[in-house]
Amino acid sequence: MKITKILSFLFLVTVLISCGGSEESDGPIIIPPAKVRAAFEMTISPTDQNVLLLDNKTVGTGEFTSEWDYGQGNGFVLDQPGIEEVRFDVDGTFSVTLKVTNEAGVTQDVQTVVVANSAGGICPNGICVTSNAGVLKDVSTTFLVGNITRASKVNSVGIDSEILKTHFSSITSEYEMKMDRMHPSQGTFDFAAADAIVNFGVANGINVHGHALIWHNATPDWVKNFSGTDAEFETMVKNYITTTVTRYKGKVASWDVVNEAIEDGSGNPLRNSVFKQKMGDDYIKKCYQWARDADPDCLLFYNDYNMASSTGKRAAMFKIVDSLGDLIDGVGAQMHINYNFPSKANIQAVADGTVSRGLKLHFAELDVRANPDNDQTSLTSERAGLQKAKFTEVVKIYNSIPLANKYALTVWGVRDNETWLTDFWGHIDWPLMFNEDYSKKPAYDGFLEGLQ
Ligand code: G3I
Repeated sequence: MKITKILSFLFLVTVLISCGGSEESDGPIIIPPAKVRAAFEMTISPTDQNVLLLDNKTVGTGEFTSEWDYGQGNGFVLDQPGIEEVRFDVDGTFSVTLKVTNEAGVTQDVQTVVVANSAGGICPNGICVTSNAGVLKDVSTTFLVGNITRASKVNSVGIDSEILKTHFSSITSEYEMKMDRMHPSQGTFDFAAADAIVNFGVANGINVHGHALIWHNATPDWVKNFSGTDAEFETMVKNYITTTVTRYKGKVASWDVVNEAIEDGSGNPLRNSVFKQKMGDDYIKKCYQWARDADPDCLLFYNDYNMASSTGKRAAMFKIVDSLGDLIDGVGAQMHINYNFPSKANIQAVADGTVSRGLKLHFAELDVRANPDNDQTSLTSERAGLQKAKFTEVVKIYNSIPLANKYALTVWGVRDNETWLTDFWGHIDWPLMFNEDYSKKPAYDGFLEGLQ
């Protein structure tokens, strides 16, 4: 081996001398420029799955020219500074070519783009998942399918935000867009969490439903103990509603302006909230007027619970709705129900009363208790099947209303272990569509079957 190396060295020296000609060298040896290797990266636009972002990553010494051929039959075009944004609206397979030329010659980088609009547009890594394959938001083509969220979930990249983006077309803040969070003290607003949720919806093309401007259960203590005059109180409420609705104008599609204003007691009177006490019974109308003035394009809902299970409360709700005239656009029936209650007929009555008034219907907070009597220690397949059937029943009723009256069906939670019901009732339940490990339950299929 050693001999070989010595001979090679001698050969190299000989070559160098002979190339050098006479004893003096002719100057530095010019090494011809190598071809510059073309290279680019491509990503799908986060805001439009039919737009490809092309980033020329070619590096090299000396001058070189870059040209693109997007594979759409238009030949080569010169590379422009920055990221190229190219639309691919037609299904097919396209070769994207970056051609780089320098004095040494031409190199190319060619990558393939696959477009299938049934899968949403450009297919990530050429893999087209037909988006209608049993995904709620894609199968539900005539109304939004919603769920709740919170800033901590949308602020972090992870499965919680992925689940929302994959399965749902609308989001509602579970608690961070209520007065106790957005208006924590007199003269101060805190929109940080609300902004995060709204911005997540806007960035991902997901509808945002605002919940809830006025609610006795989310009224900050400083409001409950307001020390000023009633006129000052009213001015404060007007300012709060105007400030909040204006802030999200064009971003929040709808608001529950007033939530749960009706008592459960006999006669279902108005709750004696601080708003009623200081602004009078017509506080509701004033709040809707202020919201309407702040964003005339925003859908305004009245939201309440037990709309299906209490005929008295349902009647009281419709009386409020009727009194609001053109200040209201829709009814929010929360739909916190059980696998076996209320009846289909009573759920249908909520839909009928809303539709007959020409209003939008939002089944706003659907969860279906599988353990209302606390007689279950786990979700049996039999009880899961009954829960699934109730999901199907509710979705079928909603899906059967006229298109003009459709808005959204929002489920109040993703995973069973996150439900508010556990704390509220003090025992375990499994009311939602996903297990704790994020796997789908029969209830998810029940929702899908309601859409058929
Ligand atoms: O997560 C925070 C925690 O980080 C913090 O330390 C703690 C103390 O501030 O608060 C925790 O947030 C709690 C949140 O639930 C999440 O658990 C809030 O205090 C608590 O007020 C909030 O309760 C929400 C409740 O409305 C009041 O806003 C429930 O999540 C929510 O499910 C419930 O939803 C209502 C609807 O808005 C109206 N219809 C009835 C429904 C059930 O009550």
